This record gives sequence, structure tokens and C-alpha cells, in this order.
Amino acid sequence: MTYESGKVDELLAGMSPAEKAGQLTQYFYFRLPPGAETEPALGLDVAEQPRAVEAALGRGEAGSLLFVTDPSEINRLQRLAVAGNPHGVPLLFGFDVIHGLRTIFPVPIAMAASWDPEIIERGQAVAGREARAVGIHWTFAPMVDIARDPRWGRIIEGAGEDPFLGAAVAAAQVRGFQSGGVIAGPKHFGGYGAALGGRDYDEVNLSDHELWNTYFPPFRAAVEAGAGNVMTAYMDLNGIPATASHWLFTEVLRELWGFDGFVVSDANAVRNLVTHGYARDLAEAGARAVTAGVDMEMAIGDPAYAHLPGAVSEEVLDTRARKVLEAKARLGLFDDPYVDEDRARETLADPAHRVAAREAARRSAVLLRNEGGLLPLAKSGSVAVLGPLADSRRDTLGPWVFDFDLDETVTVLDGIRDAAGNTATITYAPGIPVGQRTFPSMFDMFGRNAPADPEGFDAEAEFARAVEVAAAADVAVVVLGEWQNMIGEAASRSSLELPGRQLELLQAVVATGTPTVLLVMNGRPLDLRWAAEHVPAILDIWYPGTQGGAAVADLLFGDVSPSGKLPFTWPRTVGQIPMIYSHTVSHEPDNQARRYWDEESTPLFPFGHGLSYGRFAYRDLTIEQADGVATVAVEVANEAEREAAEVVQLYLHQRHGTASRPVRELKGFQRLVLPAGSSHRVEFTIGEEHRRYWNAAVRDWVLDAATFDVWVGGSSTAELGGTFSIDK
Ligand code: BGC
Repeated sequence: MTYESGKVDELLAGMSPAEKAGQLTQYFYFRLPPGAETEPALGLDVAEQPRAVEAALGRGEAGSLLFVTDPSEINRLQRLAVAGNPHGVPLLFGFDVIHGLRTIFPVPIAMAASWDPEIIERGQAVAGREARAVGIHWTFAPMVDIARDPRWGRIIEGAGEDPFLGAAVAAAQVRGFQSGGVIAGPKHFGGYGAALGGRDYDEVNLSDHELWNTYFPPFRAAVEAGAGNVMTAYMDLNGIPATASHWLFTEVLRELWGFDGFVVSDANAVRNLVTHGYARDLAEAGARAVTAGVDMEMAIGDPAYAHLPGAVSEEVLDTRARKVLEAKARLGLFDDPYVDEDRARETLADPAHRVAAREAARRSAVLLRNEGGLLPLAKSGSVAVLGPLADSRRDTLGPWVFDFDLDETVTVLDGIRDAAGNTATITYAPGIPVGQRTFPSMFDMFGRNAPADPEGFDAEAEFARAVEVAAAADVAVVVLGEWQNMIGEAASRSSLELPGRQLELLQAVVATGTPTVLLVMNGRPLDLRWAAEHVPAILDIWYPGTQGGAAVADLLFGDVSPSGKLPFTWPRTVGQIPMIYSHTVSHEPDNQARRYWDEESTPLFPFGHGLSYGRFAYRDLTIEQADGVATVAVEVANEAEREAAEVVQLYLHQRHGTASRPVRELKGFQRLVLPAGSSHRVEFTIGEEHRRYWNAAVRDWVLDAATFDVWVGGSSTAELGGTFSIDK
């Protein structure tokens, strides 16, 4: 994307301070469905809000809008903006394109579970292409916040607990979105995932050691991948609201990492500096955010940035407005700000997008357990499909989607019927009402959030019928988890239990003696202690998206082998949280009874875990070393009689040095597809960038001369290992 900087200079020279502040302001533009209720906390007047925004467009005092996805509406608003602005400056349209616009991909945590930058990049390129086709220029994604507390609902939007995996996933998403034609905006800088107690928006207290070593690497990777935007975070970071942190947005992001794009606040986060008790009024809030380095305010109510003229110098306004105008110029909006509505329809209907979504869902599912090789299933006999989520289109898509097509969404039941309906008898019973919700979601205001409760649903009779259907079948496939609006923003939980009567249903089905497969529809680890002992096969399918059910059937019947791996440590119980695989060794490491006396201190499933229909053997690990770079090679063989993919993982441990280092840290991974009976030699290099870490004693990055252990295998408990030493 090239642009003429002369155009930006010329515009700035002619603009008034109010017009410049307008460029720095992004408004929500909500057209809620008739009868929709607004989220009371937003304090929105549904009828008034669009009128107020259009008035700002008429005055030439808005730089960007968000939440409009209809191309004709985008063109209409763009015309108002261009006509209203004395310099004809067009709007940037932003939107939360998180895991697809029309074609919905698996939720982000699921995409991370593919450990496959190629499919992640491809998926976000599709999302970017669909978004740009309707006129959206910029997505508020990827969310690259490290999440180590699954009570926090937004764990579903990120890549899990690990900085190395998180960095790879972040970069792949940025590349994907931007190749699709939209600006990517990694968020929420920084540390948002460490909310106290997992309570969304609550304060975060992180040491520098955790920030540099764990929470920052995905942001840095996103910036290095060329992200054009970064979003702030809502909460206080070490006592200062993140949105007003000069350290974050000027010193780290711009001065240290060389970020050249523009920064946007999270929604209302500038106004909220007053709520936080940090700024005395809106004028002070705006001045503090803008001088911290926040270019644009995302505003739901009256913008704080409207007070900037008079509160900050014109030089500050110029510096910030330049960033926004540059972004518009790079997108070519000064040449043509409008969108082709016919092309939009064609792009959204592109069948290749559905093919990519199905492939993504296949690669992201994680086979947690498969005792006695119950999976894959035969496409014959009788299959009972049970559980309310098995046939809920809305839940199959997951949260953070708005423009989906329910008619084309393939549920697990649809997928199983399509794959085996002609050769096997498929019977469905929900057992529990589909519409069960435990609390109203902030996204319910968009009116497309909850499937309807079936009329006259007799809960007791349906429960009993589901158990009867299971008893009469050769195999039972039970789909359980959380309804999609039980997780996400403002959807944290204090428990990880399966909501409602789901565990009871599972227990009753297993008690019939029919071999049972549990499919988990989730975005966070759930308490599966009972299932992990009593249910022979457990496949984590996450919220798998538009083509989800088709992909799940591909996996269930063995057309494709599962290959996903957990991007987080799966705890046994909520009381173990936070639990990470990369903890330090610490005192009496072998005396686990001194960790908890009432619970194991090991997870239910380790980080990186995921089974396969293949059978992988790891052998012949060699380490060569030259000039401080170790090359680790290992042979991976698939000893099964079928093709399967495996994610080969490398973990590193530094034995001694100038700080305590984690027992293991992921430092490399590669996804391989291995035909039946084949083997492949995989090579990893461990260079300075893998050994360097931020040290709290010297308050800087260090490289220790030390002895290192390395392991290669299919999870963080890999056993095949070796050792090497670095002398300087
Ligand atoms: C969220 C952001 C999101 C924004 C706009 C906020 O509530 O924290 O992640 O991009 O809303 O929808």
C-alpha cells in the first residue's frame, strides 16, 4: 500500500483543530433490530444515537465508524461523511471481525489449537477478504492477550497460555487479515488477560518479568508482522489505566518496537479514565490518553476527544491526526472510498471460503482421550446423537459473530446425518432444552444470540427419552459444553462445571452401557474429571463455525485424523487455577503432596496434549552445536496404517544461570502430515532468540552461559530428550 505523504501534509495544513479532533474520533453506529434491548451499562438511546453520529458526519467531525456491515449502508454513511467534511476526508469503517464475517471459522482459541500458522493465516485472509468486500477497512483483531485463567471469558478470543505459540498465532493472523485487505489491530495492549480473579475488566498486576517474558511477545510479533493498528485495554495495569500509559504506547510500542501505525482506545476506555478516578473530567481524560500515544478514541457516548482542541497543543493533534490520515491514504480511500455492492455479494458467497472453514475446523479439534480405540466410528449400525448443543446452529458458531448465515450452518447432527445418514440409523434427542441460558449476555441486544426454546419442551420426559435413545443405540455421541454466550467478553465464571444438568445426562447415558463419545463444545477448559475416567472417547470440538458439523463428522468417522493440541493446561478443578506448564522448579519439586494436600497438582490434560488416529514414535534425537546455535533433530514415525498429522513440539529448560527458569518452555513446533508407515526427520534450531529472557535482577535481557535440557515430542510431557551446553 503506497500513498503520497504530500496529500496528508496538505490536509493537515487546512484542517481546523475541531476537524483534527474529529479524525481522532470513532463512533459506534448502532442500528439495533426493532424491539432489541440495549445493554443498560452502555446507556444508549437507540433512536438518538444514529442521529447524533450523522450530525457529527455533517460537521466533518468523525474519523471512523464501527459496527456497520451492510455495504449499501456503508456507502450511504461514507457519502454523508465525504459531503460533510470540508476537505472530503472519508471514514474508516472498523468492525470486530474475530473469526469470520459471513463464513465463520472456529473460535480463536480453537484456531490456536491447530498449532498451524498456515491454516490460521488462510482463515483470517478469508475473513479479511469478506470484510473488505462489504466495505470494512479494519478489524479489531487479533486478540493476542495471553490467558492463564480460564474463569476469564475472553480466554476464547486468544491463543491460550504460551508466549511462543501466542506469538506465532498473532503473526499469522496479522498476515492473514492484512493480505485480505483490512488493517489488523492486535489487542488489548497490555496484560488484559491477567484480570484479578479472572473477572473481566478488573485490575491487572504483573511484574516486569511477566510482561516482557510472557505477555508482550505476541504483541511484539504482531507489530513485527506489520499490524497497522493496536488497541488499548480497559483495565488498570500496575495501578495506571492501560489506556493512559505513556510507557505502553509511546516508550514500548513506538520507541522500542518501532510501531508505525495508529492506536485506538478500547470502547469508551478514554471516557472511563474519569470512572477509574484517574482524570477529573473528559477534557483531562482526552488529554492524558492522547499524550500517552492513543491516536483515536473509540466512543460509545460523547467523545472525550471532542475536548482536545484547547486541552492539548495543535502539534499533538497533528501528530495523532497524521497517523489516521496516513492509514486512510494507505488504504487508497482518498482515491475511492466506496464499495462495490455486487462484488460484495459474490465474495461472501465464495465456496472456497467454506472449504477453508471446514479444513480449519478439522485441524483445530483436539482428541483428549480415546480408550480402546473407540474412535473412529463405523458409518453403520445405530448412532444416538444427544445433547442440546448437537443441533444448535447459533451455538455451533460461537461468540463474537454477528453477520453469520444460520441457514448454511452445519451442526454436529447435520454433519453426522450427511456423512452417515444413508448407511447408519441416526437418532437425535436433546435431553435438555436448547435455549437454556443462565444469564443475559451483553450481545443479546443484537437479537440473534439465542436459539428459541422449543415450545412445550417437557424437561423430565426429554431427559428420559435421551437416555432411552442412548440405550437402544450401538454408540452414543453426546455433545456438551457451554452455550456460546456463557463465554466471551463480560462472561467470566467462578466455576468450570458443565452448566445445568449436562453431567447428569452424560452419567445416565454412560450408565446404559452404550459406548459413549463426548464432544465438548467450549472455549475454556471445563471440569471433566468424571468424564476423563468414565467416558472412553472425548473430542474437544470447540465452537467449530459454519462448517463445524461437517468437519466433526470427518473426524468422528475417520475420514480425517484429529491433530489439534491444547493451547492451555487443562486443570482438574477451578481451585488449581492459575495452572501453567512453564512454572519454575522451586522448592521440593518432587514433593507434590506439599502443593495441594486435597488435590493432585498435575493437570487433567497437559499443555500441547492431543491424540491421533496415527501412532507416532519419536526416536534418534541428535544435537549439534556451532556458534551458540544448537540444531536438534529427531525422527518421527507414523506406525499406524493410515495417514495422520502430528504437531511436533520442542521444549527447552535452562539448568542454571542468573535467574530461575521454567521447567520447560515451548521453543519450536512443526505440523507434519505423515502417510501410513512413513517417517520424517524434523529439525529445530535453538538460537540466541530462544535462550534470551528478561531478567528481574538486572532489569534487562540476558543470555546465560548454561547447560540446557531439550525434549521433543507430541506434548509438553515429551520424554525423548538431550542436553547441550553454551559456554559464553
Ligand atoms: C471490547 C473490544 C472490542 C470493542 C468493539 C470492547 O468492549 O473489549 O475487544 O473490539 O468492544 O466492539
